[in-house]
Amino acid sequence: MKIIDRHQLIDQLNWRYATKQFDPTLKISAQDWAALEEALVLTPSSIGLQPWTFLVIDDPTVRAKLLLASYGQPQVVDASHLVVFATKANYSIADVDAHIRQAAKVRGVSVESLDGLRSMAVRSVVQGMNETERRNWAVNQTYIALGNLVTSAALLGIDAAPMEGFEKGRYDDLLGLKARGLTASVLAAVGYRKDSDKYASAPKVRFPRAEVVLHV
Ligand SMILES: Cc1cc2nc3c(=O)[nH]c(=O)nc-3n(C[C@H](O)[C@H](O)[C@H](O)COP(=O)(O)O)c2cc1C
Repeated sequence: MKIIDRHQLIDQLNWRYATKQFDPTLKISAQDWAALEEALVLTPSSIGLQPWTFLVIDDPTVRAKLLLASYGQPQVVDASHLVVFATKANYSIADVDAHIRQAAKVRGVSVESLDGLRSMAVRSVVQGMNETERRNWAVNQTYIALGNLVTSAALLGIDAAPMEGFEKGRYDDLLGLKARGLTASVLAAVGYRKDSDKYASAPKVRFPRAEVVLHV
């Protein structure tokens, strides 16, 4: 098995930065993009419930509309790919059941044999939280996918810009998310940096490791 070593890992995490200027002429290959979509799919989530949908905005006219709801941040139109991380707005028992059916299919077991898992998920997520708590829970899960995508892209030498600077309600309207039971949580523009982007060489501002990692 080919694995990267720890130096390569840290080098790539230092190489990555929240890209401000993408080169609009550089496109991610279909193979690399397929791998990044697979990375999204492989994201872990609480109880494995995956309360999300990832919208890849291929249509440039839709991207131009989204730019108007993104405070003019040019990454939305210039990056090779734009992902809108959408969260299930009101996670329900039907969603738990969809997961249970998929688990039964993939693992080759009966739906009934997963009754315990189903009850636990219904109790802790659907019945144990009010709508706001449930939405927050689902949004938290969605952000794990954002981190996964950003890091995966960096390991492939692909740039990414995680973005919260957009009007969620307008995104929901423009993409018809409400009708699908979804709401926009966060974005990632993904592609290749422009040489002129001065942020690429800006030193990283991070608190010292000893301050943020405590050994107890
Ligand atoms: C969830 C999230 C949302 C962000 N939203 C924006 C954004 O809307 N616009 C922007 O220019 N940068 C945005 N950033 C980039 C951060 O400012 C950046 O990641 C941080 O300053 C650390 O710098 P680095 O990523 O270049 O190491 C966002 C980052 C994260 C993780």
